[in-house]
Amino acid sequence: MNYDFWGVGVPVIEWDESLSVGDEEMDRHHRRLLEMLCRLHAVMRTVDANTAVGQVLADLLAYTEFHFDEEEKCMRRVGFPRLEAHRESHAALTGAVLSMKADYDQEPGSLLAEELFEFLSDWLLRHIKAEDMAYKPYMLKAN
Ligand SMILES: [Fe+2]
Ligand SMILES: [Fe+2]
Repeated sequence: MNYDFWGVGVPVIEWDESLSVGDEEMDRHHRRLLEMLCRLHAVMRTVDANTAVGQVLADLLAYTEFHFDEEEKCMRRVGFPRLEAHRESHAALTGAVLSMKADYDQEPGSLLAEELFEFLSDWLLRHIKAEDMAYKPYMLKAN
């Protein structure tokens, strides 16, 4: 895992093998989510990007929901036994981001790039490393 800051403090989180959950498609989704998160952070730092931030945030939310759906299908397919708890974790994050987006839509200045980025990257990385990683043996066996 490479967590780096370049130039003016724009974070770059690079996916590496330590984040692999045993399924190429899910790995691709996670890569994309990390990229979108870094892009959101970069857009939020620009001065006149209110509309762009709203769009990037909406895109991130839509892709996150898409990923969670697909991941839940995968877990069901490979017979992962703790699907319900995992679904609840996904739902909690979706709810938190929806309420952040609602705050942002009401008052764009209320959402800070650093806070949003830290919350989301911390959540995503911990979720992949602990909860997603729990289904890895089931994926490897089925794939
Ligand atoms: Fe997950
Ligand atoms: Fe995931």
